[in-house]
Amino acid sequence: MTRILVTGGAGFIGSNFVHHVIAHTDAQVTVLDKMTYAATRESLAGLPESRVQLVVGDVADAAAVDPLVDRLDPATDAIVHYAAESHNDNSLSDPAPFIQTNVVGTFTLLEAARRTDVRFHHVSTDEVYGDLDLDDPKRFTEDTPYQPSSPYSASKAGSDHLVRAWVRSFGVRATISNCSNNYGPWQHVEKFIPRQITEVIEGRRPRVYGDGLNVRDWIHTTDHSSAVLAILERGRIGETYLIGADGERSNLAVVRAILRHFGRPEDEIEFVTDRAGHDRRYAIESGKLRAELGWAPRFEHFEAGLADTIAWYQANADWWRPAKAATEAAYQAKGQ
Ligand code: NAD
Ligand code: DAU
Repeated sequence: MTRILVTGGAGFIGSNFVHHVIAHTDAQVTVLDKMTYAATRESLAGLPESRVQLVVGDVADAAAVDPLVDRLDPATDAIVHYAAESHNDNSLSDPAPFIQTNVVGTFTLLEAARRTDVRFHHVSTDEVYGDLDLDDPKRFTEDTPYQPSSPYSASKAGSDHLVRAWVRSFGVRATISNCSNNYGPWQHVEKFIPRQITEVIEGRRPRVYGDGLNVRDWIHTTDHSSAVLAILERGRIGETYLIGADGERSNLAVVRAILRHFGRPEDEIEFVTDRAGHDRRYAIESGKLRAELGWAPRFEHFEAGLADTIAWYQANADWWRPAKAATEAAYQAKGQ
């Protein structure tokens, strides 16, 4: 690869991917980002200006997308598509931007890839498969049927279907990855782990939805980045790869680990109104990615990655504090 167009590269996972690409390849990166509430320029600070360019624009706007894709060389370059509205709770309050960005935005990029024959990688989520029971021995695989629960996951499922259709009908050279729950630096404080870490730093109790027994399969975002890069470089066109690091934990187990880390009593928890349609459990079987592309996570132990992440939020309060009060006010208005 010589140039990669990274959509959503000023958000949590996209910016971590840009850092990863700069550290591990010699590629040039163009970030196309609308700079919504979820984006920050700080997440890209310190990267070499000679290799990283930020373009502010909307992936659903062909006038913004087309000139950037036109300057890519189909022989060497690629689009990696992270841009999305990404928070389930927001999709329950207002689904419209999720359809516009996640579905229309993906369509707009696919049309540009079809016209130019530029390689396309679509970043998706395990939530497209719906949820599993807590006592179900099964995990999601590439063959699990789609059964999304929320407007967010339905919009991501829709975008995955578009990618598959553009591969089959038009020969677009695309791959898809469906990853489990990410944690790490630069994640917005609306999301579970940064919300709870920063609540504890602020001297308040973690806020757990419902009974707290819901299970998520946690992966450090650095490991998501290395998996996407492996798929981009060595993945088979038209294939889907599931990305996960065997990190299943209940929400209660996660907040107890955070409380323990801060030396606080493990029962100092505020149980709040549950999320509507709350998925019970996600779990990823990532054997295909590991066997075919030789990928393995660097953060094998969730507790080690969590300790790193807590240290990062302690050291970067200037970054998250401006968003914290408004985020908490919005949650409080919903009883959460
Ligand atoms: P995020 O909300 O932190 O970042 C999203 C980024 O996309 C932001 O920079 C935002 O400004 C940008 N964006 C939003 N609408 C846009 C538009 N119309 N045009 C251009 N840019 C736009 O999200 P994230 O958690 O970093 O997720 C990134 C991707 O990874 C998403 O596609 C998400 O579905 C997927 N994913 C996330 C997780 C997770 O645990 N967070 C897990 C698996 C997959
Ligand atoms: O599985 C991948 C998905 O993971 C991604 O596609 C999404 O973009 C990402 O946001 C994430 O979705 P979740 O809904 O699982 O993540 P969230 O951080 O919102 O919540 C994680 C769990 O914690 C979930 O069971 C809801 C619960 N929760 C969340 C918040 C914000 C709480 O109990 N309390 C909270 O305050």
